[in-house]
Amino acid sequence: MSIYTDLNCSNLLISQEGAVVTITINRPDKLNALNSETIQQLGRAFAAVKADASARCAILTGSGAKSFVAGADISEFASLAPTVAREFSLIGQRVFRSIETLGKPVIAAINGFCFGGGMELAMACHLRIAADTAKFGQPEINLGIMPGFGGTQRLPRLVGRSASLELCLTGGQINSERAYQLGLVSKVVSAAELMSAALTQANQFAQSAPIALRAIIDAITYGEDMALDQGLDYESQYFGLLTSTADMKEGAQAFLQKRKAEFKGS
Ligand code: COA
Repeated sequence: MSIYTDLNCSNLLISQEGAVVTITINRPDKLNALNSETIQQLGRAFAAVKADASARCAILTGSGAKSFVAGADISEFASLAPTVAREFSLIGQRVFRSIETLGKPVIAAINGFCFGGGMELAMACHLRIAADTAKFGQPEINLGIMPGFGGTQRLPRLVGRSASLELCLTGGQINSERAYQLGLVSKVVSAAELMSAALTQANQFAQSAPIALRAIIDAITYGEDMALDQGLDYESQYFGLLTSTADMKEGAQAFLQKRKAEFKGS
C-alpha cells in the first residue's frame, strides 16, 4: 500500500519504482486537458512526492500515444466570470510553482500534444524529454485569450523574448526538433524510447546526492530572479552548507577509493 493510493486522484495514475515516482495525467479521451480537478490532483500528488523521503525524482507524462496535455480544459473555462477565471489562473500558477520549487528533480516526458497549459506545465518541470512525434505551442491567442499558468513568464526565461513573442502571438505549433533547437526540451527520442529515456535519467537523479540536487534547483530557480550579487551570495551559502553533509564526505571518499558513491541524503 503506497501513500499515493490514498490521495484520491482519479485523473492521475501514480506509480513508484524504487525512488522514482511516475505521475501520468489520465484523461486520454480529452487529450489529458487540465480541468480544475486535475490541477488540484497534481498539487496533491506533487505535495506527496515532496513529503515522501523515499521519492528522489518524479516523471510527469500523459496517458495514451497522442497527447502529453492539450492545454487547459476549454469546456471548463469558456464560461467563467473574470474573477473566477483569475482564480483558475492563480491556482494553476500555484500548483505549477510547487512543482518548480519541489526541491526534487521532475522530468516531463512529453509524449504528444504539448499545448497551452500543457506546455506551461512542462516548463515548470526541471527537464523536458520529448518524443519526436510531440508538438508544442501556446495557442491561447486563437481562443482570444493568453497563457495564464505562467507561460508568459517561463517561456522567455527558457527560450528568450523573440521566440516567446513569436510562439504566443502567432499561436503556431512547432515540432520537437524546433523545440530542441530553441532549448525548450533537452532531448528528443523516438516515441517508443521516451519512457525508458525518462526512467534512465530519473534513476540517475535517484542515485545523486539529494541535498545537492535541491541546492542546485533552488539556486537556479530562486537565483534567476535575484540581482547577481544576491544570487552569488545565495549560491555560496548553499555551497558552504553542502560541505557539512555526509553525502559530500561520501562523494569525496568514493572518488578517492575509486568506487561508486552511495548518497543517502544526509
Ligand atoms: N480542452 C478541452 N477539451 C479538449 C482540449 C482542451 N484543451 N483539447 C482537446 N480536447 C478534447 C476535444 O474536445 C475532443 O473531445 P470530444 O471527443 O468529446 O469532442 C477530444 O479532446 C479529442 O480532441 P480532437 O480535437 O478531436 O483531437 P484532434 O486530434 O483532432 O486535435 C488538437 C487535437 C490538440 C489539435 C485539438 O484538440 C486542439 O486544438 N485542442 C485545443 C488546444 C488548445 O487550444 N489548447 C490551449 C487551451 S487554452
